[in-house]
Amino acid sequence: MSATTRPAGEPDNTSPGDAGASTGTGLTGETALSTSTGTGGEPSNAGAPGTGRQESAAQPGTYGPEVRERLERDAKEIIGRYPRPRSALLPLLHLVQSEDGYVSDAGHEFCAEILGLSKAEVVGVSTFYTMYKRKPMGQYHVGVCINTLCAVMGGDQIWDELTEHTGVGHDETTPDGKVSLERLECNAACDFAPVMMVNWEFFDNQTPASAKQLVDDLRDGKEIAPTRGPKRLCTFKEASRVLAGLPDGLAGDGPSAGDSSLEGLRIAKANGWKAPEA
Ligand code: FES
Repeated sequence: MSATTRPAGEPDNTSPGDAGASTGTGLTGETALSTSTGTGGEPSNAGAPGTGRQESAAQPGTYGPEVRERLERDAKEIIGRYPRPRSALLPLLHLVQSEDGYVSDAGHEFCAEILGLSKAEVVGVSTFYTMYKRKPMGQYHVGVCINTLCAVMGGDQIWDELTEHTGVGHDETTPDGKVSLERLECNAACDFAPVMMVNWEFFDNQTPASAKQLVDDLRDGKEIAPTRGPKRLCTFKEASRVLAGLPDGLAGDGPSAGDSSLEGLRIAKANGWKAPEA
């Protein structure tokens, strides 16, 4: 995953996730982690498309001991970066999403316990942001920009043909667990419209034909490189881990700006134009 990825913004102090009392003393829910029973009510992830998670020895709505230990280790590192534990909620939601391919009931429980928040507060935040998924996404999460410029340049047509081609709709996953689709708003890449993203890497100047070929290649397991960014695609779970703040070492790979983005700068330089003094 490259440095071009856009993480979700952190909620302000009036968001549902900020309403609970924080002691500011560190891992407020740490003790409770070992005694959680979860709430259940959500289907197990075992064998779910794109999750690959084993939950043996775990109650519904909880993680097994090995997963729990690993998540706690990562969570402590992330929480240590913030003055108050509750401020780490957004990256921790990405962390549990990297485990399950979505924010599961177990993920909500884990975040609530380790941050000393109520589960309702955690769910209130996770259901506010579209980057947190409510059901397992595919190994490759494919976004099609249908915002104004991409739409008129062909994004709407790409979306229509891709959904018909794959048989799945918004935030739905193909039966093989390989690909999920999402309608995206502007990706700040309008100069490459119409744009698609796979696990938050850019695929520029798409057509309905290239979009369908891309999805077919992903489902066939072919090696795919984004138009910009690193030479290989990570999985949706790996991308979620990067968004949690745990780098994969690929941030420096590939160009940071494409040709179209630099065209204005080239013209300005050729004409000796400069920005006015502030
Ligand atoms: S409208 Fe699609 S990237 Fe801006």
